[in-house]
Formats: sequence, structure tokens, C-alpha cells
Amino acid sequence: MNQRDVYCTQVTERELGSKVTLNGWVQRSRDHGGLIFIDLRDITGIVQCVADPSTPEVFKVAESVRGEYVLSITGTLAERPEGTVNPNLPTGEVEVHIENIEILNTAKTPPFPIEDGITTDEMVRLKYRYLDLRRPEMQKRLILRHKLIKLIRDYMDARGFYEIETPILIKSTPEGARDYLVPSRLYPETFYALPQSPQQLKQLLMVAGMDRYFQIAKCFRDEDPRADRQPEFTQLDIEMSFVKKEDLFEIVGGLIEEIVEKLSDKKLLFKPLKKLTYAEVMDKYGIDKPDLRFGMELFDVTDIANNTEFKVFQTAKQVKGICAEGCGGYSRKEIDDLTEFAKKYKAKGLATFALQPDGTVKSPVAKFLKEEELKAIIERAGAKPGDLIMLVADKPKVVADSLANLRNLMGTRLGLRDDSVMAFAWVTDFPLVEWKEEENRWDAMHHPFTMPNDEDMHLMDTDPAAVRSQAYDLVCNGSEVASGSIRIHRRDIQNKVFALMAYSEEEVQERFGHMLDAFDYGAPPHGGIAPGIDRLLMLLTSDNNIRNVMAFPKTATAVDPMTGAPSPVDDAQLEELHIKCIPADEE
Ligand code: AMO
Ligand code: AMP
Repeated sequence: MNQRDVYCTQVTERELGSKVTLNGWVQRSRDHGGLIFIDLRDITGIVQCVADPSTPEVFKVAESVRGEYVLSITGTLAERPEGTVNPNLPTGEVEVHIENIEILNTAKTPPFPIEDGITTDEMVRLKYRYLDLRRPEMQKRLILRHKLIKLIRDYMDARGFYEIETPILIKSTPEGARDYLVPSRLYPETFYALPQSPQQLKQLLMVAGMDRYFQIAKCFRDEDPRADRQPEFTQLDIEMSFVKKEDLFEIVGGLIEEIVEKLSDKKLLFKPLKKLTYAEVMDKYGIDKPDLRFGMELFDVTDIANNTEFKVFQTAKQVKGICAEGCGGYSRKEIDDLTEFAKKYKAKGLATFALQPDGTVKSPVAKFLKEEELKAIIERAGAKPGDLIMLVADKPKVVADSLANLRNLMGTRLGLRDDSVMAFAWVTDFPLVEWKEEENRWDAMHHPFTMPNDEDMHLMDTDPAAVRSQAYDLVCNGSEVASGSIRIHRRDIQNKVFALMAYSEEEVQERFGHMLDAFDYGAPPHGGIAPGIDRLLMLLTSDNNIRNVMAFPKTATAVDPMTGAPSPVDDAQLEELHIKCIPADEE
């Protein structure tokens, strides 16, 4: 095999008339009036190669070449004849006149074209992922992923962080999902768990005095995959000793700024990153991961509504709304569709007020309201003629859910969610616990190692819902990019939190005994965070499919169509593990 001395697109750096050897795949070949044109592709891109009949042995091989054949071509670099320049190709001004051509391998016709922008069913793309990844847009994503991880490692190293690997076979760490379990052969009837995150281990590294830890860490969670969720994903896992949350904000904020500036063409909306409390975002946006690229904030009219004659408003726990600029001309059908949309989030209805240019108001509920009540609502909404006010009356949770989703929908419709902008913000002071209806107990909103806010500590016994914690999220454009907290480092506080969450003493000892033991040996105050690498890449590439930023992802039903995983194993393997399968239909 003649080995390449230059990559396809780098021929432009060579002198015209010089000899080059290229290795790559056939993008396409075509016969043009006695000349055969072969577009040869490698990881850098494409260059056109030409075979002419004056060298019959070369021409004969060139004639037999098909798409995706693997070739070695040697030839002379030449200017393209006038009128044949292709301005769309970086190598569009040159071509290689083939002097030697070698077929290194043939190829079957691929199940889809190896090019950008294909509409092939994703199952097919995943089954032939190695072909899907041959497409330039996919290769670009993998290369960006590499650059992101390299930038992260350099950034963290420069700030005194050590990358420390933690095991994949561990005891279960709770992050709120189901564990993937691995049976132990040596100890029948016992299991390792794959880490949902290295949470406990990184805290133990702080007890070990490592001071600043990070890891590009694989995490495993047995939960239903979604557009932005995979069973197996990667975090930039960080933990630091003797810190306040502001120290983490500075480190991670600086990293985010560097990532966006060096690896994307996008603009950061807030620099330094914005800070909002959980209470603030829930009030203004109805969701803990608001898209801050646009306003359309929720406003509260409960006081006005409760005093009206309209039954639905009178009795409602809460009445809030949003105002969509310029949507006052929406048709009946458009309004009905919005109402149906709100109902998907359990709203019982949507009270709309379409402000007409002439100052009148079209509304199915205006008839229940006095003139001044209507005026007060319009004023609260900050609405002007031509706008559309939408109100939901319900329990706060339903009001928040339905309005947050309506707001996102209207933001998309009105083109307010500009892809070239990244609106990163910290959300702080999350509640420590939330009530789990099914389990009839309080559970950690972040995880049970999160430190309560000092000033709320006294509420732990009397009003747990009001206790804020030192947990924070990093959000961007409506998605949660990172989560973290200052941790509990003292056994007495940790015990108190476990008790609040109704863990029995045996349970605590069984599951977290090693953590509590460690706290007894001088655990330093510490805190950390974990940005999701895959989520960050989705944002950087404006892609809403997490699978596109991973080399070999699972489908939405957690299978790998390429290898066929998960799959049955030999009886002998099971026997060794002392495992007997109960067929699913016998359960
Ligand atoms: P958390 O569970 O919030 O926190 O996860 C942190 C970040 O990881 C990403 N992420 C995911 N990405 C893809 N697929 C998933 N299934 C998935 N789940 C989470 C998100 C999320 O913000 N140990 C704590 C962190 C800490 O306290 O330091 C933790 O794992 O971007
Ligand atoms: P109804 O009395 O059910 O015919 O509703 C009259 C109007 O009020 C309709 O436009 C409904 O969509 C709206 N509506 C009903 N329930 C609610 C609610 N909980 N919040 C906001 N609007 C509502």
C-alpha cells in the first residue's frame, strides 16, 4: 500500500505540480466524457481526483471503483481547468491527476448516503453507527467533544485540580434513579452497583485531603432515556475542600466562558453568569431551568382574580399568567390549541384576553369581570393593544407547569429562542427536601449529602419544606447543565437530615455507614458540582438529540441496535454467578 503523505484537504498547502499520495474513501465517482472523476474523502474532507484514458491500467481500475471503496491514490496536484472550479469545496480550485490507484478494500453499497443532512431513520443510523460516524457532521461533533474534554482537562489542571479515577464497580450511590447492578461471582447473591455518579467517592477524596478533585466520569442510571437523557452519560465531576459556593461559581463560570468563547461562535448573554434564587425563577418562570434568552415573565393576579365574580378565579389557590406580545390577533382555533396545550400540563382551562388594536378586548371570560378588574389584569400583565394575555387558575404546581411550558412554546413561536445566544445562569437556594406523595416522606431535592442553609437550620423540625439548601444548578437556554452543592461534613447534621428523610438507623448504617465513619475522622468542609458533558455539547451544537453528541449511544428504549445489547448470556455464565432467570411472562 502506498501510504499517504498528505490529507485530502491539505493538498492546498502543497505546490501545484507536486506529487501527492492520498488514502481515503470514495465519496463518489463519475464518468464524464472519457474522464473519470473520483471524489476522495478522509477525515479532513474531499479532494477531486481525475483518471484519463491515456494511462489505461489506471483508467481500468478507476472504472471499477464504487462509493465507499478504500483507495490509495498517487498523482500530480493541478489547477482545475477554467469553469470547473467548485467554490463550495475548500479544495475546489485544484484536482489530483491520478498516476497510480490501488483499491485497498471494496465496500457494499451503504444503507444511507455518507453525507450531511440525511433524513434516514435513526434506528438505521444507530445500527450502522460506524457508517453514520463517517459523515462529516458526525465527525465534527466527535472532534468537538474531544476538544471540549481537552480544554476542561487543561483548565482544571491549571487551577490545581487533580484528575482521580474512581471505580465503576461500587456500592450504590443514590442520585434518584435506579442502579444498574453487576452480580458478584465470588460472593453469590451479592451485587455491585454501577455509579450513578462518583458522589460519595469524591467526598471521601476530600476527607482524604486531596483538596481539589475532578474527573471526566461515566455515570450509569437505569431510567427511561429522553431527548436529553441517556442511561450512560459523562459528567465533569468536581469537588473542592474549604470552599463556599461562590468559589465553585467562579471556577465553573470561568470554565463555561472559556468553552463558549473558544469552542463556539455563540454569544454569552450574561458575563459573569447571572445568579437567581430558586424562589425567584419559580415565581418568574414557573420552572427551575428557565430559558433566559427572553422575558415573557409570569405575573401574579391572584389578588385581583380572587375578588371577581368568576367562580374559577374566585376559588383558585393561585392565578398567574403570561403576556405574548403581538399575538392578540390569534384565531379561535389558535387559542383553542393553546388551551389544549395547557391542559396537557393539567390546567383545567386557559383564560385568554386578546387585546385588539382598537382598545377592545376579546375574551371568553371578560363577561365575568368588572371593567376595573379587567383593567387591573391588563395593567399587571403589562399588555398593550395587539398582545395576548393567558391566565391559568389552579394549584401553584399546575399554574407553574402549564405557564412555564406555554412560555417556552410561545418563545419558540415568536422566534425568541435565538440559537446563537447562550443564557447561562446559576439557580441557588433550592429547597432541601420535597414531599414524596407515594412514599409518604420527605426526600432530598438534590441528594442527602446537601448542606442546609445555616439560617434555615432551625426550621428542620418545624417546617422542613421551608428549609433552603446550599444546592445550586447551572441552567442554560431551558436545560439543566450542572448540579451541585456544599456538602454536609458533620455526622450530627447528616444524621438529622437522614432522620428527616425517614431513613431508619439500620438503613443509614447499611447504606451510608462508610460515609458517616469517614466524617468522624476530620472531614473538611467541602462542596462540588457536576456539569453534564453531553448536555453541554448539545447546547454548543444547538442539537436537541443527546445521541448526536455521543459516539455509540443507546436508543430511546435503551438498546444498542449495532451490537444488540442487552442480550441473553450463556447458561454457564449464569450458573457461575448463581443466577436463575425468571422469564418475563411468568412474573
Ligand atoms: P445530577 O444528578 O444533577 O447531580 O447530575 C448532574 C448533571 O449531569 C447531567 N445528567 C445527565 N446527562 C445525560 N443523561 C442523563 N441521564 C443525565 N443525568 C444527569 C445533567 C445534570 O445537571 N453527584 C451530583 C453532582 C454533585 O452534587 O456534585 C449529580 O450527579 O447535566
Ligand atoms: P368554562 O366556565 O369552563 O366554560 O370556562 C370559561 C373560560 O375559562 C374558558 O375559556 C376556559 O378555558 C377558561 N378556564 C376554565 N378553567 C380555567 C382555569 N382553571 N384557569 C384559567 N382559565 C380557565
